[in-house]
Amino acid sequence: MFNLGILTCSDMGSLGERIDTSGPAIKEALEPLGFNVVHYEIVKDDIESISSELIAWADSRQVDLIITTGGTGLGPRDVTPEATKNVLDRLSPGLDEAIRRYGEKNTPFAVLSRGISGVRGHCLIINIPGNPSAVKDAMEVLTGILPHAMDTLTKWKVEEHPKGL
Ligand code: MTE
Repeated sequence: MFNLGILTCSDMGSLGERIDTSGPAIKEALEPLGFNVVHYEIVKDDIESISSELIAWADSRQVDLIITTGGTGLGPRDVTPEATKNVLDRLSPGLDEAIRRYGEKNTPFAVLSRGISGVRGHCLIINIPGNPSAVKDAMEVLTGILPHAMDTLTKWKVEEHPKGL
């Protein structure tokens, strides 16, 4: 069993002007794999707001995986990758490539997502785009990868971590 945090990054969602279907879709896709949702929040598209949630969840050591959804595009308010980069210890570019590559089967616009991923302490953080069809694609590709990724990551012992996290 792994603990999951879902962070929806959306100005409209945070104001209650849009119903978030992407966060619940992530929960639905990952629960059967043994992920238990311990945090779910909708935040505005603001670097500080996103980074501070990521830090709080990862450093609580109660969260094994955080999926963010939204704010990865080219719009001026799309800052999820920057907020994520600020808090990561190590990058995992292969995951980002896999998400974009898989998405390209359905739309050439998949390459417009600038989403990144990596590890903070013992927590894996992955950005995926916001729209429901992108979430569906990302879940399809990630469900094949996450079980092994989580096993690898959680083998770390506290004293082995380079930053002692
Ligand atoms: N990836 C998949 N698989 N399916 C999609 O429909 N939409 C793209 C891209 N990635 C899409 C996708 C589009 S149109 C945009 S603008 C970017 O994700 C960024 O989306 P975001 O700003 O909601 O994160």
